[in-house]
Amino acid sequence: MKKFEKKVYLSSPTMHGPELQYMQEAFDTNWMSTVGKNLDEVERLACEKVGCKYAVALSCGTAALHLAMKLAGGKPGVRVFCSDMTFDATVNPVVYEGGVPIFIDTEYDTWNMDPVALEKAFELHPEVKIVVMAHLYGTPGKLDELKGVCDRHGAIIVEDAAESFGASYKGRQTGTFGKFNCISFNGNKIITGSSGGMLLTDDRDAANRVRKWSTQSRENAPWYQHEELGYNYRMSNVIAGVVRGQFPYLEEHIAQKKAIYYRYKEGLKDLPVSMNPMDLQSSEPNYWLSCLLIDKDYMCKQVRDDSTACYVAEKGKSCPTQILESIAAINAEGRPIWKPMHMQPIYRMNPFVMATGDGRCRTNAYIDTGAGLDVGADIFARGLCLPSDNKMTPDQQDRIIAVIKDCSHCGFRPEERGWRPDISDLWNAARCGVNSVKHSGRLCKENNEGIS
Ligand SMILES: Cc1ncc(COP(=O)(O)O)c(C=O)c1O
Repeated sequence: MKKFEKKVYLSSPTMHGPELQYMQEAFDTNWMSTVGKNLDEVERLACEKVGCKYAVALSCGTAALHLAMKLAGGKPGVRVFCSDMTFDATVNPVVYEGGVPIFIDTEYDTWNMDPVALEKAFELHPEVKIVVMAHLYGTPGKLDELKGVCDRHGAIIVEDAAESFGASYKGRQTGTFGKFNCISFNGNKIITGSSGGMLLTDDRDAANRVRKWSTQSRENAPWYQHEELGYNYRMSNVIAGVVRGQFPYLEEHIAQKKAIYYRYKEGLKDLPVSMNPMDLQSSEPNYWLSCLLIDKDYMCKQVRDDSTACYVAEKGKSCPTQILESIAAINAEGRPIWKPMHMQPIYRMNPFVMATGDGRCRTNAYIDTGAGLDVGADIFARGLCLPSDNKMTPDQQDRIIAVIKDCSHCGFRPEERGWRPDISDLWNAARCGVNSVKHSGRLCKENNEGIS
């Protein structure tokens, strides 16, 4: 398959023109600062779109999550329930404040925090009063259930809507379900400022505190007077110009991403795979990233350590590593699913709760506990993010679909791709501990210099 001359990205910024005009306006009026009309406007536009009372524009979504954590009461030793399968920016702010994240497993219906696991977590850790939940890849989680659990236990929700701006649940926009909510305008998001984020809330006092904290916490005095810790977290008026120029295009971007999702769904329907799931009865996702999950029975062997991945190509099967490699070979960008936080070296010792209870130490050398993979680890193993750039043409997408099909096809009929097991394949297979003639491929090919 021919390589794309210009790389097809996972999700790159899509500029339209007004962004430049608003940046120019900031320049011409000399509001090259953290105050100015663009800032006022983006805050107004965000409130209008989301349906919240206050929006505070910040340097990034992570800053918004950090200040939300402070508002929610994050401090040294405080335990906080967090989404597990997400970007680490959801979780790190807990640690910035000295808190301890406790990870809650994922459910299969929307790939978000599992309300059953959350309920279990309150049984195990009843002292917890803060829950940080993300909506993965633009798909809202089971908000009624999650909110119900939090309300029953008197816990504050911090909603990480960084990936789901513009998505709604039962007619209500994400970014309004928590007491303190965050969105991101990072370069890869549904609309972008190149960077930037916002804290959204209906709490006036909270919004004012965030404004103060984000501009170095100045007290009311003729000089720089400080009584509490401050941060330089305010959004620049130039960045706000980009965000302002993007706002009118939010719905267009969502429509493009949606078309991409359904084109993949149709194009891949004959393969033993499914797309990232969504509850369309209750929610309208923003379709930020299209993802794929390979059916369990069609996964070839794939092994990942902390930095590398290998697989054994197998007749009739494939795996994310093989598909990502094949996509990359034609100059298109996919990505593994977010590696769950409980599997990350930095959080390896943090508690992890599944629907069935404590997610750590689940096996027993003497008794079969029947413990399989947790949901997050399973989706991480079998899933991947597909190129989802809204500038990708249908023709380009069809080529990506063809490559994915060819990938599994390779697994089905490797000889059609010119590969036949010969004596060196047998040798390699034996060296790699793969004991079937049919099994060979990447793992052994990589190791055929005698490294195993
Ligand atoms: C789920 C999630 N949370 C938080 C963030 C952090 O946002 P930012 O990059 O604007 O700091 C991101 C993305 O970058 C994200 O995907």
